[in-house]
Amino acid sequence: MLKAQISTFNDWVDIFAEWKKDIGYDEKTFKRFLPNYVLEPKYEPCRYNEIEFGDFRGDRKWERVLDIPNQGIRDALQQLIVYQGDTEFASVEQQRYLVDRAPSDYDLYALMRINAEEMRHGWQMSHILVTHFGEGGRKEAMKLLERRAYEQKRLLGSFNEVMENWLDMYTYTEFIDRDGKFQLKMLSHSSFMPLAMSMDPMLKEEAFHLGTGNNGLKRILKAGKIPVEIVQKYFNKWVPTAYDLFGTDGSSNAHWAYVWGLKGRYNESETDEEVRRDQLNQMARGLYHAEISKLIVDMNTLIGEDQPKLIVPDIKFNRKIGTYAHQTYTIDGKLLTTEQYEKYKLEILPTDKDREILRGIFKENDWIEFKPFKGDA
Ligand SMILES: [Fe+2]
Ligand SMILES: [Fe+2]
Repeated sequence: MLKAQISTFNDWVDIFAEWKKDIGYDEKTFKRFLPNYVLEPKYEPCRYNEIEFGDFRGDRKWERVLDIPNQGIRDALQQLIVYQGDTEFASVEQQRYLVDRAPSDYDLYALMRINAEEMRHGWQMSHILVTHFGEGGRKEAMKLLERRAYEQKRLLGSFNEVMENWLDMYTYTEFIDRDGKFQLKMLSHSSFMPLAMSMDPMLKEEAFHLGTGNNGLKRILKAGKIPVEIVQKYFNKWVPTAYDLFGTDGSSNAHWAYVWGLKGRYNESETDEEVRRDQLNQMARGLYHAEISKLIVDMNTLIGEDQPKLIVPDIKFNRKIGTYAHQTYTIDGKLLTTEQYEKYKLEILPTDKDREILRGIFKENDWIEFKPFKGDA
């Protein structure tokens, strides 16, 4: 039973320990691969001490919640931190079944490290909530450990999906952790100093997650045991949820987060393009789409001539939010009738039969190119 109230960060840490037990976190394997890992908040100096964009541009970044000009901005900021923290703990819940089925020590190490770092990211967001946001922040930090991905209670769609196997794992780290990189980079420009200071250490860790995902998928394609059609189905499962993570088109939340300097554009420090405040989410989603398109072109070079090639699911396919929500487009962007679409989805998303085929393939460990484990880097 979780405590009813917390007053210090140490109280929160007690609840975190209960959360780990409750989700069945494998402490023994964690200790085996990461014996020296310390969960702790990490803050690094920001590149800019002044607010970088929006109405407060040029003012000193806010170091305390009391420095923030009004309650509307405080609430929006707290919400951004809560959403980020929610995804971190959720991903550990989603990945909890994979420990027993790792194809090699390297893969198991990668999983344990990714989980540890996601817990640290959630810990970081909770640290900001508990130390800066008073009673309301402490409540929200507790709620981060009360919602469960496997009860579909997490705040964003991707984080309530079921992860059953290691093809899920590497598709997820490639595409969903990559969305994470986009979100973190956008928050690294934040007008709230403690949030901006949190992002560089998180981004460094995140790079390992997406690198592991990208490399894992390439190792799978090189091994050539999992049919490309099935790999494509897993892309079709996860990528639309990643598109959704960028939020609705023409979002007023994104607009205000920009006006208040809370969350920047992905390419904020590299672009001199005029900002289109009503297009922020579409713009970020577009950059993400471009990035994953390149990765998939690269993956296709590993697929034999006689095999089908992988494609990037169209931005309109299987969306749950935004302009294209609940519409009936194919993965290559063609509009179907509702009837055609229902049938189509059964062909294009992973089925029980695919899962059965995969279970057969996973019995041997030759479905992924071997990578030796050389110790914790
Ligand atoms: Fe993370
Ligand atoms: Fe991650």
